[in-house]
Amino acid sequence: MAVSVKSPPEIAAMRRAGRVVGKVLQTLANSIQAGMRTRELDLIAERELKALGAVSSFKGYRGYPSSLCVSINDEVVHGIPGERIIKNGDLVSLDFGAIVDGYHGDAALTVTVGEVGMRAQNLLRTTKGALEAGVAAARVGAHLGDISCAIQEYAESHGFSVVREYTGHGIGKAMHEDPLVPNFGRAGTGLELKAGMTFALEPMLTAGDWHTKVGTDNWVVFTADHSLAAHFEHTIALAATGAEVLTIPENGPTGG
Ligand code: MF3
Ligand code: CO
Repeated sequence: MAVSVKSPPEIAAMRRAGRVVGKVLQTLANSIQAGMRTRELDLIAERELKALGAVSSFKGYRGYPSSLCVSINDEVVHGIPGERIIKNGDLVSLDFGAIVDGYHGDAALTVTVGEVGMRAQNLLRTTKGALEAGVAAARVGAHLGDISCAIQEYAESHGFSVVREYTGHGIGKAMHEDPLVPNFGRAGTGLELKAGMTFALEPMLTAGDWHTKVGTDNWVVFTADHSLAAHFEHTIALAATGAEVLTIPENGPTGG
């Protein structure tokens, strides 16, 4: 399928959706505390989403029951909020998406709760760095493989593995559009990047092996070896001047 190029008004709507996502994730990151149930985070997300006049990208997507994904420690992605209590020392990934005027924004971040080990802190920092490396490689005239390669090289050079079975994606009128954006690949290969293309880049890194398995609820994804995982995601729009990160609470002069 063809990869869509968005018009300036479409990008403007995605900027509004991205800002909502950035704000809600910021509120969640500021709210998270040991002793909370993951369901409480979902309630905060729903309340903020409503206050900002937006609609969830996730709720009802292929039957997904919540507005937020909360994935803890060896959980990589798609953790359904519920009765689980967040503990001191947990590594918590929050993934959230919103629709504004028919366009989606999708982002994720990982936070530490209380005191976590050095390896977990390093994994978090490296996953964030891998996303930044991917954003930096997302330039008009470059190729999709340049993004994938930049993420993989950053992750592996810091001693971590990249999950292969889940990927980033195009995004716009639908949360998941073509193309898939793998977090591993070869520079110079794949689709040539054009101004107006919009992607969700989302490196998922593990402290062990990259293989995953799905839990009994058919949603939550674990590392197969139960090693720690972290996840960072941004929705970006390509312009001649570079990639604009859309999923931030406010847009600065450079969009970054
Ligand atoms: N950020 C995730 C993704 O891009 C969100 C999907 S969770 C779901 O796939 F619940 F909506 F499926
Ligand atoms: Co996504």
